[in-house]
Amino acid sequence: MKIAPSMLSANFATLADEIKNIEAAGADYLHIDVMDGMFVPNISFGPMVFGALRPMTSLIFDCHLMVQDPERYIEATALAGADIITVHYEATKHIHRVIQQIKALGKKAGVVINPGTPVAALNAVLSEVDLVLIMTVNPGFGGQVFIESTLKKVSKLKDLRTEHGYHYEIEVDGGVNAETARQCIEAGADVLVSGSYIFNQTDRKAAIDSLRI
Ligand code: DX5
Ligand code: ZN
Repeated sequence: MKIAPSMLSANFATLADEIKNIEAAGADYLHIDVMDGMFVPNISFGPMVFGALRPMTSLIFDCHLMVQDPERYIEATALAGADIITVHYEATKHIHRVIQQIKALGKKAGVVINPGTPVAALNAVLSEVDLVLIMTVNPGFGGQVFIESTLKKVSKLKDLRTEHGYHYEIEVDGGVNAETARQCIEAGADVLVSGSYIFNQTDRKAAIDSLRI
């Protein structure tokens, strides 16, 4: 089980320290939520900010692009040090092309769906991607309540992977705490994103460990 703390809930005034702290606490990925105020009703940070953090840590940079027409920002995201670049199915007319664009830059490609989008929308790209992210809240903000009905999509993805021999990791994002983490693991998640649950606790190692159980 991999844990990906979401930087969105870190203290932005001391970002470098926050990142070093969760790395020492045993995080696997750093989940980086890029928001453009268009695809989602919030603005966060972009490649200039996480690029500045790149030399500070060897954590895997797991970039979740909540931006309209993400093809415009793939290159900048890759150059800033992303390892995994995940794009929303709902944000582009050309999901297959964007995935190819990410892979051509030598990065791992992920695709993500909102709670209102079915797994079937991804059928044509499941063989191409390294990661599938299931939103367990509507994207835009940290600290929202986990939507339980999204768990069916996690088990569906797990079954499809077995059936077809696909290689993607299954990641969940939104409202993950010690209780909902257990439900996600049971459904078949490989990577848990967690923002407010981890960053609101002073002992980040205890918080991360509590999600792995
Ligand atoms: C929501 C973001 C999430 C968010 C998760 O749009 O994609 O990554 O930071 O935060 P919590 O864990 O607080 O729901
Ligand atoms: Zn996210």
